[in-house]
Amino acid sequence: MFSCSTASLLALILAAAAPSLADDNARSVSTLEFKNKFRESGIVPEVIAALDPAVSFYVTYKAADGHSELLVPGSSLTVGETAQPLEFSVENLQNATNITAQTRYLIYLLDADAPARSNPTARNLRYFLAGNYSAATANSTVLSTAQRLVIPAGQARPFTSFIQPTPTANSGVHRFIYALYTQPVRFSSAGFESVGMEEAIENWNLSRWRTQLGLGPAIGATFFTVDTGANNGQGTSNVPAAGSSAAGMGIPLAMAGVAALLGFMALA
Ligand SMILES: *[C@@H]1O[C@H](CO)[C@@H](O)[C@H](O)[C@H]1NC(C)=O
Ligand SMILES: *[C@@H]1O[C@H](CO)[C@@H](O)[C@H](O)[C@H]1NC(C)=O
Ligand SMILES: *[C@@H]1O[C@H](CO)[C@@H](O)[C@H](O)[C@H]1NC(C)=O
Ligand SMILES: *[C@@H]1O[C@H](CO)[C@@H](O)[C@H](O)[C@H]1NC(C)=O
Ligand SMILES: *[C@@H]1O[C@H](CO)[C@@H](O)[C@H](O)[C@H]1NC(C)=O
Repeated sequence: MFSCSTASLLALILAAAAPSLADDNARSVSTLEFKNKFRESGIVPEVIAALDPAVSFYVTYKAADGHSELLVPGSSLTVGETAQPLEFSVENLQNATNITAQTRYLIYLLDADAPARSNPTARNLRYFLAGNYSAATANSTVLSTAQRLVIPAGQARPFTSFIQPTPTANSGVHRFIYALYTQPVRFSSAGFESVGMEEAIENWNLSRWRTQLGLGPAIGATFFTVDTGANNGQGTSNVPAAGSSAAGMGIPLAMAGVAALLGFMALA
């Protein structure tokens, strides 16, 4: 009798939950927690000298089960889940220095462990870089307390269009970092190439880049890992030929990702 009513109750709960495709477990992460996770992962100081986030920065991605999930620092993703981000959002934006309603932001994604953490000769490998984001009045679809960052329709011109990461199988755990910066005013009307930034995506020197663009430190950042040893060979689909310039990247996937991302941005 007890098990019967438990079963029907469970069925009811499942039926009620079924239509929702949003992450029910999304919760805010404190800036201190972000800071600690970057240290625990070794990203600070191995890849980034320091991270003192003023804001909590989030990315929403599509999980393997079809749900929209909030990326929290240290999330472990499968290769399939590294497809284009669905949305960017932020909490405590007012805590960053010099923020106004006109402030624009730039966002990047990189792989710190390319082609492998044990021998990261391509560090950092850039998978995405775009400026001109601004804070929207709409909030995140998975975390209602986080404000979305969007690019006005028709203005999405990423410096590096999104490329879906496809790290090579058996190349260890890769750490992928998304970071958020306030954008110097000059880039509201000029691209990053105007200060000499080059398109090459490998061996991206972050400290040199920050100086080149006149950036302060990142106001927020998050990261996920992909364990290429636990992906049942998924990572082998786009193994580059020896000497290929794009270590561990899949270009056809990249194009699909760009199209999807642009589609999303146009909606924003
Ligand atoms: C806002 O910034 C101040 C000064 O940097 C810091 O002490 C405080 O913890 C921050 N608040 C939040 C919510 O992150
Ligand atoms: C804040 O903005 C003012 C005016 O644009 C500028 O002089 C100052 O250097 C900025 N401070 C920081 C910390 O960015
Ligand atoms: C939307 O996000 C902003 C900024 O984080 C927050 O102040 C506001 O309370 C949020 N709105 C709702 C309905 O939660
Ligand atoms: C921002 O948008 C303006 C106007 O569309 C454009 O001229 C500028 O290059 C863009 N800046 C960046 C960094 O994308
Ligand atoms: C990155 O650039 C800085 C400043 O130009 C330089 O000191 C540093 O050696 C460079 N790092 C690498 C790994 O090349």
